[in-house]
Amino acid sequence: MFKLRSLPFTEIAGLISKETCEFHYGKHHQTYINNLNNLVKNTEFEGKGLFDIITKAQGGLFNNAAQVYNHDFYWDCVSPTPSTRSAELDEAITTAFGSFEKFKETFLNSATTLFGSGWCWLVYNPSAKQIEIKQTSNAQTPVTEGLIPILVVDVWEHAYYIDHRNARPAYLEKFFSHINWKFVSDALEWAKKEGLNSVNFYINSLHV
Ligand SMILES: [Fe+2]
Repeated sequence: MFKLRSLPFTEIAGLISKETCEFHYGKHHQTYINNLNNLVKNTEFEGKGLFDIITKAQGGLFNNAAQVYNHDFYWDCVSPTPSTRSAELDEAITTAFGSFEKFKETFLNSATTLFGSGWCWLVYNPSAKQIEIKQTSNAQTPVTEGLIPILVVDVWEHAYYIDHRNARPAYLEKFFSHINWKFVSDALEWAKKEGLNSVNFYINSLHV
């Protein structure tokens, strides 16, 4: 049985209110957990880890498993406490985008223009050995393409409607100012060292 991970904060002022935690984490994320536990019963994936399900299952089982992971990761990408970027992350950003300002502009533009429900990611591409921005729709996750997430923002309306109504750009500006750069820096370090295994390690740290 999969269990809902703990939330690493109770609220993030100006970005994620207690009410949004109650709905987005307590209801939406919990529902993906419940659906996953129901759908996995009596399938070849019963008893398997979340990483195996995400990378091998399809249909409703994939959708709910991927949404569990996508949300797990999202909660770690923001924090009420400011932190700094590693030199390794700064270098990767400069190499890929030219400057931090250009990265911010490109990332926010990509998240703003993503049509419908989905996720905007910063990933490490182990083939190209550099970081890239990636949009995914609905439950899709870059993990299935062998790309390693290091940052994500949820742009489903349920992520921002309570606190920001329909103003996705306002939510995204607030999101960007509360990114947990320590977590993102660590994710890049592990992605470069361990590749896709780092995703499995991360999942196993939350779901054992
Ligand atoms: Fe969400």
